Amino acid sequence: MRTYGLGSIEDQANLYRSLVASGLSKIVDLKKYINQPEYEKKIKSYTLADVERITDIPRNTIREKEKSGQLRYSEDFSTEISTEQDLKKEYSLQDIKLIRKLFNKGFFNGSIERPRDLQPIILSMGMFKGGVGKTVHATHLAAHLAINGLNVLLGDLDPQASSTFMFGYIPGIDINADKSILTALIENPEDIRNVIRPTHYHGLDIITSGLELQAADIALPNFNLNNAKKLGSPLLRLKKALKLVPQYDVVILDCAPNHAATTMNALTASDAIVIPITPSMVAYGSSVQFLQTLEELAGSLLTFKDNKSINPDHMMEKELVESCYNKLFRVLITNDSGDNESRDVSAAIKSLYGELVLPRPMINTIALSRASNDIGLLYDLKRSDVRGSKESFDRGLFCMKEVNDDILKLIASIWGISYGKSTY
Ligand SMILES: Nc1ncnc2c1ncn2[C@@H]1O[C@H](COP(=O)(O)OP(=O)(O)OP(=O)(O)O)[C@@H](O)[C@H]1O
Ligand SMILES: [Mg+2]
Repeated sequence: MRTYGLGSIEDQANLYRSLVASGLSKIVDLKKYINQPEYEKKIKSYTLADVERITDIPRNTIREKEKSGQLRYSEDFSTEISTEQDLKKEYSLQDIKLIRKLFNKGFFNGSIERPRDLQPIILSMGMFKGGVGKTVHATHLAAHLAINGLNVLLGDLDPQASSTFMFGYIPGIDINADKSILTALIENPEDIRNVIRPTHYHGLDIITSGLELQAADIALPNFNLNNAKKLGSPLLRLKKALKLVPQYDVVILDCAPNHAATTMNALTASDAIVIPITPSMVAYGSSVQFLQTLEELAGSLLTFKDNKSINPDHMMEKELVESCYNKLFRVLITNDSGDNESRDVSAAIKSLYGELVLPRPMINTIALSRASNDIGLLYDLKRSDVRGSKESFDRGLFCMKEVNDDILKLIASIWGISYGKSTY
């Protein structure tokens, strides 16, 4: 007769252990299948037509520079271009950076390097509610910024590790638990340098996540575990660690759907916060709860700032706290199906948040759910390889680029740089 109970705790543990082991191996198979024929994600490459669109430099001009030898890409440094066959067909984002450099088309008023007086910008995709598109938008925004020539770090701060999966890393298989941001938060901020990995987009690196990150939410609020004597306020750990990697122009943080310590660290570290809201009353309600958290967080930072009895060893934290303010806060209406209910809730969102709502919403699109199912981004796909309706893919991709361009414009405005053109 079939029994529904698992028997002893040992049976239970054995069952779960064997499910985890076979689950992980099935994910590896799935990953191999999805990324056929290669196991690893392939470095994203572009055609010359794409490069023209991305950089706004006519393709003939690029070809002339290639033929004259003024544009030499690392892999074909010694190649003479004498026939059509020799012409370059695929460009990586690294190649595109070289082109931008030669034509003075970098993001920073022509330069590809961020001027020293401009600080990196840290942006959190945060929201209390789950499933509203934080990961979708964090990952696509990060790729969008890299495509536009910025040096980007994506921090996956959710133990669910969805962003990590999106870039082809599997927690527990590709990544050991000791290679996580956890120790940078609790033991040594310098460890952040050891947990950054490349992605298939040149110019975009990722801090991967995994279940072990849950330990941070237990340790950080606990005075016996959080190492506060040595490392100071548990609210400022991520901010301190990110100061050690100033080479990134923008850091995008994909937050977990909670108000736990790691999320709080992301919010204190952030210069900018974008909250995605799907047009549903539940998400709208959660956004107000999220605002309450932001209010409470600002309150505790104020108390900290005014605290006269701070340990002199941690006086630099006062300075850090001074810089803990959001230069930007925006609401992104996303997964908008355009039906009557969406319209009503969108109107309610706009009436509460007013000009804080980003000008263009992200539509609901099957193309995005398909890309997520394939553990990838819309930006990963070539139109020719898209399954299902190409028109739907075009609409989804176009809309995603618009949304990301609106955020990029705001980032540029924090730096005081003019950026007015949708480049990709
Ligand atoms: N515009 C959209 N159109 C269609 N599907 C979408 C859209 N935005 C998000 N989704 C789908 O909704 C699901 C949840 O999105 P996502 O993982 O980004 O949410 P999240 O806020 O990060 O969730 P969590 O809080 O659990 O981390 C995904 O399967 C994603 O593909
Ligand atoms: Mg997520």
